[in-house]
Amino acid sequence: MISYEQHFRRRYMTGRKVGESAVNDHIYEVFPNDLNAHNTVFGGAIMLEVDRLAGAVARRHSGEVCVTLSLDSLRFLEPAKSGEVLVFKVAVNRVWNTSMEIGVKVFAENIYNDFVRHVVSAYLTFVAIDSHNRPIKIRPVIPETKSENRRFQEADQRRQQRFKNNPRP
Ligand SMILES: CC(C)(COP(=O)(O)OP(=O)(O)OC[C@H]1O[C@@H](n2cnc3c(N)ncnc32)[C@H](O)[C@@H]1OP(=O)(O)O)[C@@H](O)C(=O)NCCC(=O)NCCS
Repeated sequence: MISYEQHFRRRYMTGRKVGESAVNDHIYEVFPNDLNAHNTVFGGAIMLEVDRLAGAVARRHSGEVCVTLSLDSLRFLEPAKSGEVLVFKVAVNRVWNTSMEIGVKVFAENIYNDFVRHVVSAYLTFVAIDSHNRPIKIRPVIPETKSENRRFQEADQRRQQRFKNNPRP
């Protein structure tokens, strides 16, 4: 039996490492119904998977119900083609108070020659909410590797830009 203080500390104050919630190798096999008229992958199919996985990582990190506040900088760098496999990499970049930034990278992999191309990058902001849909505190995230630390630093600049582009009503 733990006290309320212990529960509170464990749930909201104790940080979790980026790697504890990250998705490193989510495979999405491209089927004919994912293709557009140009025989490349329909962007909306990738966006759906991006939002779904980012939400799963947000929930896994926070242990709370999380909703998408915004999706910015989703950039289709190159088209993904029929016959390729999509590989999603998703991680918490930074947590502020009730919101967090999730970064997503998508690669297109040709499984016959191992050729890999970076096709999409995206940043999403998720907010953790309580049963009344009110934002609640999220436990901190602990970056460990060099790239996790770089993303952690850069996330603050992106957040400032988000506030400028999309000020609170
Ligand atoms: C997400 C939601 C609960 C936030 O409610 P709210 O009253 O706007 O909350 P707040 O103003 O307190 O902001 C909550 C967090 O978002 C952040 N935020 C607000 N506007 C922001 C913006 N333009 N850019 C980045 N972060 C922003 C705030 O800074 C705060 O984070 P912090 O506590 O870490 O600083 C509410 O907007 C909502 O329900 N939106 C709909 C969500 C939805 O349906 N998503 C799609 C399906 S999942």
